[in-house]
Amino acid sequence: MGWTTVPNVYRAGRKSLPVWASSLTDADSATRQFWPMIAEHGVGYNLIVPEKVTPARARALRRSFNAIWARDLRAPAAAGRLYVIDMSRFAALQPQSAHGASRFTPSTITLLIRDPHTGALTPVAILVAGYQGRGEKLFTRAGATDGAWLYALQAAKVSITVFGIWLGHVYHWHLVTAAMQMTMFNTLPTGHPVYQLLAPQSKYAIAFDDVLLSLWADIAPPTSIATSAEFLQLADDYGAGRSFFDDDPKVTLAQLGLREADFTGKTPWDRYPVVQHLLTMWDLVETYVTSYVRATYGSDASVAADGSLQTWIATSAATDGGNIRGLPEMDSRAALAGVLTSLLYRVTVHGISRLSATSNPALTFVANFPQCLQRTDIPDPRARLDTKTLLTYLPNTGTIGQALSFYFTFVFSTPYEPAIPLGGVGTDLFFPGGPDDARNRALITLRKGLAAFMHDYQPDAPQLFQWPRNIET
Ligand SMILES: [Fe+2]
Repeated sequence: MGWTTVPNVYRAGRKSLPVWASSLTDADSATRQFWPMIAEHGVGYNLIVPEKVTPARARALRRSFNAIWARDLRAPAAAGRLYVIDMSRFAALQPQSAHGASRFTPSTITLLIRDPHTGALTPVAILVAGYQGRGEKLFTRAGATDGAWLYALQAAKVSITVFGIWLGHVYHWHLVTAAMQMTMFNTLPTGHPVYQLLAPQSKYAIAFDDVLLSLWADIAPPTSIATSAEFLQLADDYGAGRSFFDDDPKVTLAQLGLREADFTGKTPWDRYPVVQHLLTMWDLVETYVTSYVRATYGSDASVAADGSLQTWIATSAATDGGNIRGLPEMDSRAALAGVLTSLLYRVTVHGISRLSATSNPALTFVANFPQCLQRTDIPDPRARLDTKTLLTYLPNTGTIGQALSFYFTFVFSTPYEPAIPLGGVGTDLFFPGGPDDARNRALITLRKGLAAFMHDYQPDAPQLFQWPRNIET
């Protein structure tokens, strides 16, 4: 771990230290902590990852988990309480070597059972494999030794973390976003109302993505993905067949069969705070964009008749342009609001990565979200694995340092431009017409909503000017 004392992350983390440390020594504690860690702290990684097992999915999974299916999994599956976190895509990755040590992203498939009373998901079985499925082993809570089960939980966490960094965060929030921004700059006149809306929040993502790809070895976090070409291949495979709106949180939740009722105690999604945060941000942006569209376009016909707008969307969809599937016919205000909400949501929600509480203290205790394994062998589920041996699989000190440097870059650097202007929510307005203009009023409402969110998210230190207006990092 790496907890600063100025600001005092150490004090905030100290009470969690014995619990989190026990996730490496106590199999029951590690099992209990597995899901809440994702559900409460995976917001910067956009971790909407469990999938409710449908009957069709159950038939496919049964082949891999046959040894325990009838006894442990059939009944929860039938009751709609079996979930899977499927990270088997990482079987495509070869282990790499960096600074004299292996870096390995295992392929994992984790099965979890939802408690109908508490809503908690408990991991019960984890399939771990290497490149192209090599060395595949099935770990179960009931059948594996405690040490081997602790290994399997960490292997699952590595694959979920790697998913979160490169696909949850960078794919969802950086890549398609930058493509839409590039086509926007190439097609819309600077006086166009959609340009006025998007340009203030489209300043740095394209350049940042270029820098990330160019300076990969120097600035990428210490996952096993060693080159930008390897990342682009991963993103390409993930993006194949995906449509523009597939990256929206509500669409993702529906596709994964995640229902609000299953993750709600008192207030919607309170048993899955990551989703709660993402949807709060979605609603803020949707309200802003809907007001903007209503004030800008008097009718559906005026959207359809906007030639520049039509060119932007057509260029974004074209295979030799943005190459983005699933953009709708731009013939109504609802269609326009849908595209603009999705786009500005990505830019806006991305800013949560810069707040201290997103990384501190949970992610800066690196074993909570380990970025790689450092051994490529997969131990036998019956092996006696003591703590010292387990630690030889986990991030070494150099890797821990690089992981911390990655988090510190976001949370301990000042944004180029904050979402909330230093002069206050009513300054630096995007649209002509001053503070009484309906669109500027909507912008002010958005900024106030962001401020209120930050007060809830970090009540002790809301960091109102740390949330960036753009994707800068
Ligand atoms: Fe980012």
